[in-house]
Amino acid sequence: MTQRSSVRGRVCLVTGAARGIGAATARVLASGGAKVVVADISVSGEQVARDIATDGGQAIFVGGDVSSDDGAQAVVAAALAEYGQLDSLINNAGILRLADSFEHTTDAQLSDMMRINFESVFRLSRAALPALETSGHGSIVNTASMVGHRIGMPSHAVYGASKAAVVGLSMTLALELAPRGVRVNCVAPGVVATDLYVEEFLKEHSREDLESGSASTLAAIPIGKYATPEQIAEVITFLAGDASDYITGQTVVVDGGFTGI
Ligand SMILES: NC(=O)c1ccc[n+]([C@@H]2O[C@H](COP(=O)([O-])OP(=O)(O)OC[C@H]3O[C@@H](n4cnc5c(N)ncnc54)[C@H](O)[C@@H]3O)[C@@H](O)[C@H]2O)c1
Repeated sequence: MTQRSSVRGRVCLVTGAARGIGAATARVLASGGAKVVVADISVSGEQVARDIATDGGQAIFVGGDVSSDDGAQAVVAAALAEYGQLDSLINNAGILRLADSFEHTTDAQLSDMMRINFESVFRLSRAALPALETSGHGSIVNTASMVGHRIGMPSHAVYGASKAAVVGLSMTLALELAPRGVRVNCVAPGVVATDLYVEEFLKEHSREDLESGSASTLAAIPIGKYATPEQIAEVITFLAGDASDYITGQTVVVDGGFTGI
């Protein structure tokens, strides 16, 4: 029996796909039969695309900074040049810069997080919209966060604000684009043990703290574990494909119960 997949044959562009949640999403989409555009500012995305091809999937790597208008347009153009269509856009690229406190946030942290976490979503969605509309079943999935959506978190003032902006943009985009056949949803992860989180955590704490959970958020997670990138990728894949074709304007929280208590 052939396995059902709601992303089979879809062209899916994933930003921030060189590692972490984005790389896992690229792999899950490809294993479901999607043609994947692995987009990242880091050339290590090339290896992600190669590994997918080795496993029998279809993927290309496109390098570039998706927070600039030129970069966003170039990535969409490369996807269309390779595959001739674009069905799903996964705006996942993001950065985390922690500050001791709100007033110690630097101007560089402010502008970098707003530009990469929020403006990239705006610019890429705008660049991709004509192709997504042409697809007839376009889907945009934005990676937000539980921080800025459900809760605040010390040291995360601008990060949370940038993610709240992503959710706010998505709600209006969903309304404007529904009549044009494009759905827009967000996934809001809790704590995922990716390089993004671990690198920032280890600036202030020891690896032992991380693993034991003594100074970390681990103790606040009812499920008792950090999320894996694959657990987030599965939800993104559901929202990207036709299995979720009656869902739009939603933010799905995937946090192991963190914000439900
Ligand atoms: N890890 C977590 O705990 C967590 C929790 C909630 C939300 N998120 C969000 O999930 C997304 C992915 O996070 P991750 O943990 O996999 O991070 P990560 O650091 O492992 O991966 C992020 C990727 O984005 C790429 N990137 C950064 N700036 C870019 C730019 N301007 N253009 C193109 N690519 C760029 C990086 O090169 C990197 O490969 C982010 O939006 C992050 O804010 C992560």
